[in-house]
Amino acid sequence: MTHKIAIITGAARGIGLATTKIFLENDWLVAMIDRDEEELQKVATELTGTLPIGCDVSMPAKVDEMVAKVYSTFGRIDALVNNAGLAYFKPLEETDFDCWRTIMATNLDGVFLCSQAAIPALKESRGAIVNIASISALRASTLRVAYGTSKAAVVHLTKQLAIELGDYGVRANCVSPGPVKTQLAAAVHSPEIIKAYYDGIPLNRSATERDIAETIYFLCSEKASFVTGQMIAVDGGFDASGIGLPALRASRQ
Ligand SMILES: NC(=O)c1ccc[n+]([C@@H]2O[C@H](COP(=O)([O-])OP(=O)(O)OC[C@H]3O[C@@H](n4cnc5c(N)ncnc54)[C@H](O)[C@@H]3O)[C@@H](O)[C@H]2O)c1
Repeated sequence: MTHKIAIITGAARGIGLATTKIFLENDWLVAMIDRDEEELQKVATELTGTLPIGCDVSMPAKVDEMVAKVYSTFGRIDALVNNAGLAYFKPLEETDFDCWRTIMATNLDGVFLCSQAAIPALKESRGAIVNIASISALRASTLRVAYGTSKAAVVHLTKQLAIELGDYGVRANCVSPGPVKTQLAAAVHSPEIIKAYYDGIPLNRSATERDIAETIYFLCSEKASFVTGQMIAVDGGFDASGIGLPALRASRQ
């Protein structure tokens, strides 16, 4: 049996780790990529069918090296999941240029660099790219000038990839998660913000990592063979809801 091969960035924990597990359950082999090499090695030793590679996705030469290693190890790449991401939430005036660049370097440059490096192999396999954006790409909020802007750019970059790669049978789609209780979210979401989110989310809870990972896997699989250039918000209905949800809930109690 020929296994399919996925590259998943930011795979040492959170959504990337959950996504790795779903690909493995479906008999794919997974190149797990993360810049936190220690954690990556630790989690990968417990997962059969993985190739852990330490790599910072914002560094062009490292990304080229990483993709070359995956290709030389497996001889093919069928899916690229651009999941590695960083969040700093700061007011506009306190978002200095270094902070802006740091966020853009991972969240936007990383998606561009990994996608570009994997394109030759993805053309051969007629593979798929899934980029992870955020509901912060869809609805602006305070403190997210760098994060939200980087993620909105990822949504558009996904469409660019889909249009340019369609002739080669390569699909590109995007998943925008709502809040998920990962280390990234814990660092930027206070209890007040979490409550405010629940008030605005029709399903009234955070996502699990697996909620997000299932949609990522679907978009990489043959079941999504005619889906490209799309953004799916896996957000419990947050993007669909307007004002008044807390009042409606209160009136029903
Ligand atoms: N958790 C949420 O509420 C939420 C909501 C919307 C979108 N997202 C997005 O989902 C993705 C995954 O988030 P998560 O919550 O699992 O975060 P997380 O912090 O738990 O995991 C992110 C992983 O990415 C790695 N990483 C960060 N920068 C990297 C780089 N430059 N190169 C290589 N690896 C790098 C980290 O070491 C970490 O292992 C991110 O793109 C994030 O923006 C998360």
